[in-house]
Amino acid sequence: MARVEIAGLTKRFGDVTVLHPADLAIDHGEFVVVMGPSGCGKSTLLRLLAGLEEPSAGRVAIGGHDVTHVAPAERGVAMVFQSYALYPHLTVAGNIAFPLTVAKRPKREAAERVAAVAQALDLTALLDRRPRALSGGQRQRVSIARAIVREPQVLLLDEPLSNLDSALRVRMRHEFARLHQQLGSTMIYVTHDQLEAMTLANRIVVMAEGRIEQVGAPMALYARPANLAVARAIGSPAMNLLPVTIDAADAWGATVRLPDGDAVRIAARVPGEAIGSPATLGIRPEHLRVDAAGPFGGAVELFERLGPLSFAHLGARGGTDTVVAQLPGDRAVTLGETLRFAVAPGDAHLFGADGRAFSPLSP
Ligand SMILES: Nc1ncnc2c1ncn2[C@@H]1O[C@H](COP(=O)(O)OP(=O)(O)O)[C@@H](O)[C@H]1O
Ligand SMILES: [Mg+2]
Repeated sequence: MARVEIAGLTKRFGDVTVLHPADLAIDHGEFVVVMGPSGCGKSTLLRLLAGLEEPSAGRVAIGGHDVTHVAPAERGVAMVFQSYALYPHLTVAGNIAFPLTVAKRPKREAAERVAAVAQALDLTALLDRRPRALSGGQRQRVSIARAIVREPQVLLLDEPLSNLDSALRVRMRHEFARLHQQLGSTMIYVTHDQLEAMTLANRIVVMAEGRIEQVGAPMALYARPANLAVARAIGSPAMNLLPVTIDAADAWGATVRLPDGDAVRIAARVPGEAIGSPATLGIRPEHLRVDAAGPFGGAVELFERLGPLSFAHLGARGGTDTVVAQLPGDRAVTLGETLRFAVAPGDAHLFGADGRAFSPLSP
């Protein structure tokens, strides 16, 4: 069984630590999505799992075996890269068969495996073509076929769809869901795409600046980001984050003050010592409710209609950033119009000066 475990896994390039000691356990057959801003160490983590990079410290175990010093080809792991990295002089069949050729598998067995994988990825009609005669989506399917032809226990995918157009991304997203069901292998998938992460993942790992910030089910991270890095990473449009000062805190919650003086109630457990400290108020766009007397508002600078719903971008007021609010799709709005919103105390998030979320008051 291909359980993947890392313990204290660390990577430094010279003086720069790009992966701080990381611990993570991924169950057999899980689909884990890794998210985080560019440069936060996602590819480095995958390359360490694949054995393409030597760790500075820590251990990697796959299927219960310590593989920290095992060669990439011996780990039962395959990796799909953002750049498909196909061999231009080989046909599709030759590309898919390549790992079997290297492993010196018998020709007959190799041909059977290539045929089966080509079938699964709808490539049978293309087996004699060369990569340059394929579309982007077809090339990516070939690179996936090549990765799974040796039936890896663990499939690592590093932003595999980021070079494809949006319609193809949606189709390939469905392909990955199907492939995961079909193969039952453990998948670790890096993406920037919110929809890919939310729909494909059993669990999401959020990274920032070389650290794992939070690990959890997509909706758990969406509902309760543990800190600002996770609040920024999960959700599109992103959570509104507004600078506030903590004014009062008691057993029933806290009161914070916006830069322009308006007070907002939050159902969060805030210690008395935090009164007077700066903090960050977080509100998802769908939690802002139209309320003429509400504390949030401004002139509509941009209005996006998506069909079933719309997003109003409100201009800065009193030094706060732009606020994005979700509205019904058919709501009439004129540019420049002033809209005001309120938030229910239980829907607001509060992050302390250290970026960590104050825990919610249990209802
Ligand atoms: N071979 C290398 N030598 C030096 N620095 C590197 C090397 N590979 C990656 N880095 C640095 O490590 C950090 C993390 O990179 P990477 O894992 O590629 O991030 P991500 O995939 O999240 O965008 C970046 O700052 C990058 O510049
Ligand atoms: Mg990367």
